[in-house]
Amino acid sequence: MGNIILTGERPTGPLHIGHYVGSLRSRVKLQNEGNYDEMFLFAADAQALTDNFDNPKKIRDNVFEVALDNLACGIDPKKVNYFIQSEVPELTELTFYYMNLVTVARLHRNPTVKEEIKLRGFEESIPAGFFTYPVSQTADITAFKANIVPVGEDQLPMLEQAREIVRKFNSVYGDTLVEAEALLPESENERRLVGIDGNAKMSKSLGNCIYLKDSEEEVKKKVFSMYTDPNHIRIEDPGNVEKNVVFTYLDVFVKEDSFEKYLPEYKNLDELKEHYMRGGLGDMKIKRFLNDVLQEELRPIREKREELEKNPEYVYKVLEEGTKRAREVAGKTLKSVKEAIGINYFN
Ligand code: TRP
Repeated sequence: MGNIILTGERPTGPLHIGHYVGSLRSRVKLQNEGNYDEMFLFAADAQALTDNFDNPKKIRDNVFEVALDNLACGIDPKKVNYFIQSEVPELTELTFYYMNLVTVARLHRNPTVKEEIKLRGFEESIPAGFFTYPVSQTADITAFKANIVPVGEDQLPMLEQAREIVRKFNSVYGDTLVEAEALLPESENERRLVGIDGNAKMSKSLGNCIYLKDSEEEVKKKVFSMYTDPNHIRIEDPGNVEKNVVFTYLDVFVKEDSFEKYLPEYKNLDELKEHYMRGGLGDMKIKRFLNDVLQEELRPIREKREELEKNPEYVYKVLEEGTKRAREVAGKTLKSVKEAIGINYFN
C-alpha cells in the first residue's frame, strides 16, 4: 500500500493492440490487484496539442475514442479516477514553476524529444510548447504524488527528467515532491509489439495496426495479410519463427487453453514452432489459429466498446467525475508547492 499509480496517453487516435499489450492490459491488471491507495488515468489532450495545435478537433474527438478503448478494456471508474488533462488547470500552473528548474540544454538532450523533433521535421522551428512538454509531464506526475507510472519504453527519458526536476525542487525549496518510477511491461514483445507488416513498431502512420475497434472481418483480413517468413514458400519448406509476425503475436496472445480450443493436435506453442521449423506446416493454418486466438481476446472488448459508444453521456460523466477528484488532489499539491516557494501571500 501507499502506492499512487498514474498513467495516461495522448489522444491522437484510437488505440491498437500494441497499446493493449504494452499498457492497457497491465493497467487493468494493476487496477484489479488493488495494491494502491489511489489510481489515476488521464487523456493528455493538452500535451497532444503541443504538436497538433492546428488540429484541435482531432484531439477532442480522440479523447472520447481513447476513453472508449480504456473503458472497454476494463478500466473501472469506481477504482480509477479517469480525467482530462486540460480540465485540470493546476497542472499548467505547476508547469510554470517547474520551467525554472530545467535548462534548455537539458531539454535538448531528452532522447525522446530529440527523436520526435526529427520525426516531425521541427528542427529549425520547434514550437516552445512542444519543446517543454517534458516539464508539463513532470507536473502530471508530481501533482498526484504518483510513485508508480506504468508506461512504454519511450517514456523512460520523461521519467528521468521528471525525477531530476523533483530532486531540484526538493533541494531548492525543501522536501515537497515525490520521485516516481516507471513500470514497464515484462516481455520485449509486449513493450514494443511489431506491426502486422513486421515493422519494429505498430503505428498509425505506417498503416500496420490492428485497432481495438476493428470489426471481426477487419481483424481477420489483417491477420491473413501478416508478414511471415518470405522463404517459406511451399508447405514442405522449413520455416523461420523469428521475425515471423504470426509467431510473435502467438507468443503474446496464446493462453493456456488456446490449443485445446482451437488447435488440439498440438500441445503447446513450442510444438507448433518445431513443426513449422521442420517443414510441413502451412501459413494458412497458423494464421487461422492466430485469428481464433485474437478474436477471442478482442470480441468482448469490441462489444463493450460498441455499447459504450451509444452512451456518450455516461463516458463524459466518468471523465467529469474523475476530473473533479483530480483537481482536488492537484490543488493540494499546488498549494504545498506555492508554500514551499513562499508565493502564498494571502493566507
Ligand atoms: N507522453 C505520454 C504519451 O505520449 C502521455 C503522458 C503525458 C504521460 N503525461 C504523462 C504518461 C504522465 C505518463 C505520465 O503517451
